[in-house]
Amino acid sequence: MFHFSRFRNTSALLYLHITTTVFRCVSTMSGTMRAVNFEPGGPENLRIGSVPVPKLREKEVLLKVYATAINRADTLQRKGLYPPPPGESDILGLEAVGIVEKLGSGCVKTWKIGDRVMALLPGGGNAEFVASREELLMPVPDNMEFNQAAAIPEVWLTAFQLLFLVGKVKKNDTVLIHAGGSGVGTAAVQLCRQFGARTIVVAGSQEKIDFAKSLGAEEGFNYKESMFEPKVLQHTDGKGVDLILDCVGGSFFSQNINSIATEGTWVVYGLMGGRTIDTGDHLGKILQKRITIVGSTLRTRSIQYKESLIADFTQRALPHFSSGEFRPIIDTTLPLDSIQEAHTLMESNKTTGKIVLQVRDQVKDEL
Ligand SMILES: NC(=O)c1ccc[n+]([C@@H]2O[C@H](COP(=O)([O-])OP(=O)(O)OC[C@H]3O[C@@H](n4cnc5c(N)ncnc54)[C@H](OP(=O)(O)O)[C@@H]3O)[C@@H](O)[C@H]2O)c1
Repeated sequence: MFHFSRFRNTSALLYLHITTTVFRCVSTMSGTMRAVNFEPGGPENLRIGSVPVPKLREKEVLLKVYATAINRADTLQRKGLYPPPPGESDILGLEAVGIVEKLGSGCVKTWKIGDRVMALLPGGGNAEFVASREELLMPVPDNMEFNQAAAIPEVWLTAFQLLFLVGKVKKNDTVLIHAGGSGVGTAAVQLCRQFGARTIVVAGSQEKIDFAKSLGAEEGFNYKESMFEPKVLQHTDGKGVDLILDCVGGSFFSQNINSIATEGTWVVYGLMGGRTIDTGDHLGKILQKRITIVGSTLRTRSIQYKESLIADFTQRALPHFSSGEFRPIIDTTLPLDSIQEAHTLMESNKTTGKIVLQVRDQVKDEL
């Protein structure tokens, strides 16, 4: 299998174009497409298969996908631990970017064939075509390539939701962001900087901390070298942080309790460090500090909730991509065929930002 470098290069893109063009011509004519499927297990169980192009349901739009990306939810789904919501595609992929190919019945939004769009999906994005609800599309920012835009929907909408809708961040708040080099973390740091909140990141390497600082983080601590709790307290003059974005859960639980300020808000949105907690006077401290702990998911929210989130994000955040103030952070871009490599890379915990999968060659397709 061709090995793509961690960053895109021209010869690799050419290879991708040549190897997929013949297949695409045949598959489009026969109503089939290439898509990621799997048997539950490790990355070696991932395959590129030939499946039918999705049929549109009411209010759905068919996208010709140019780029997609992977998320932690995909790795959980691959292991058989996170099934798609009922009735949704069992093809992996929570986001996709491409052009509108076809409009289904009942579509009332202003999308038209040929529009460049990004989609937040309940599944199905790691494929040559995907059906998306019309309400869950956003325009690709001006002058942005599809591969760049594929790093936006899932992690930026998550970070935006966690900060503004769930965490209700206020200007000048101090926000503790765990996994500061992650896709969600790097988006959250940029959103805080632009909004006027201060950020402290926790990450597993100095490189990730330095990168987060380059995006606007005020301080960063390496959880693999020492406890972050005393440093957070020292940095906040003993007060603690106003808001915690927590995707780690169990292993950071008691440090989080001690790092949060009185009446702070603690948003739990992932459990990478385990779903159980050790014994201790946790409830006593939660009571004394009047801490608000709130869990949050995105994939299983209603269409109406996601539509409102996307409308808010489109209005308040998307313009900052066109102006250059926000940038999608991409660690690696791989061709769709390298899906096994992509999952292995994500699970290595070495990445900073997103892993994007290129599905089609934008430049060649436009010729
Ligand atoms: N609830 C929601 O709505 C929602 C939506 C999207 C994502 N998520 C969750 O958000 C989290 C981040 O997702 P992502 O796609 O941005 O991840 P990502 O880019 O793959 O980054 C995850 C990083 O977390 C760190 N990490 C992994 N295990 C850890 C542990 N046990 N303790 C501390 N740090 C650990 C690793 O970096 P270092 O250890 O090097 O720092 C790893 O690179 C995931 O848990 C994901 O499931 C939730």
